[in-house]
Amino acid sequence: MSAGVGPVRHLLRDDDLSPAEQAEVLRLAADYKAAPYAAKPLAGPRTVAMIFDKQTLRTQASFAAGIAELGGHPLAIDGKLAAIGERESVADVARVLGRQASAIVWRTYEQDKLAEMAQWSGVPVVNALTDDFHPCQLLADLLTIQEAKGRLEGLTVAFLGDAACNMGNSWAIAGAMAGMDVVFGAPQGHWPATAVRELVDAASWSGSVRTLDDPVEAVRGADVVVTDTWVSMGKESEAAERERIFGPFAVTEELLAHADPDAVVLHCLPAYRGKEISADVLEGPRSLVWDEAENRRHVQKALLAFLMQRSRVLDADVRV
Ligand code: NVA
Repeated sequence: MSAGVGPVRHLLRDDDLSPAEQAEVLRLAADYKAAPYAAKPLAGPRTVAMIFDKQTLRTQASFAAGIAELGGHPLAIDGKLAAIGERESVADVARVLGRQASAIVWRTYEQDKLAEMAQWSGVPVVNALTDDFHPCQLLADLLTIQEAKGRLEGLTVAFLGDAACNMGNSWAIAGAMAGMDVVFGAPQGHWPATAVRELVDAASWSGSVRTLDDPVEAVRGADVVVTDTWVSMGKESEAAERERIFGPFAVTEELLAHADPDAVVLHCLPAYRGKEISADVLEGPRSLVWDEAENRRHVQKALLAFLMQRSRVLDADVRV
């Protein structure tokens, strides 16, 4: 429904939240996790539209379950049927959906299209993964690390493998915003986008970003080791070449011997055992991947409640 007065807030990329707002969303997510059925700010129910132009499992399941827990109605829209930008323009779809739903969650390819949706929708738009960013996953990763380590500020994170993707870009921004030293271990040319690294270097956030092409040096002393598939959605035709160039950056027990003895391991899933991560690491005691997957639901609930209240889609006195 219409957003009312005031600017509408979106999460199109990680820095659409300030560092203080990122911390606030994480605090609310921890509250929701402790009492998942206590708050019903979307009672009515309010509808949240979820559009998927790419494959999905965790994202659809966690948004649908989370929206239901908030008292709302999750409406899943098949991107192939909607054919946004082909059958009708992004601007037309945005105005139609903005009259039916209280928020729009969209997984798609181009970041520009997501921004166009936000420009026209009149309701909050959430990036459920684009080619460039995956900010919901980063909120889940940060909550998972906070639970394991009791803090974020001052920790060292090593991101190994294909860092020139949505997860690499989002880790650079969200990690630095949270006060972490994020070290990317990847072959030359496979680091986060130059514009993203320059933005982090110029920002006044307490964390930082470094890039290394040596996997052992990248992981040395790390508190958290993160990886992602070497073959992101849309890159399938490059699979063989990618497995060759990223091979030395696989997260194995041998590589983890160089990390902090208490290092934890994250992977946003889906995971390819024997490729970017060994089966024993993924299934081993350092791995937090199942908590990380669960935390998608808690952080996305907090994010939706936060954005909708700040946008005055929800009344200021609705308990979130
Ligand atoms: N970089 C991966 C993330 C999957 C959640 C992809 O875009 O396919």
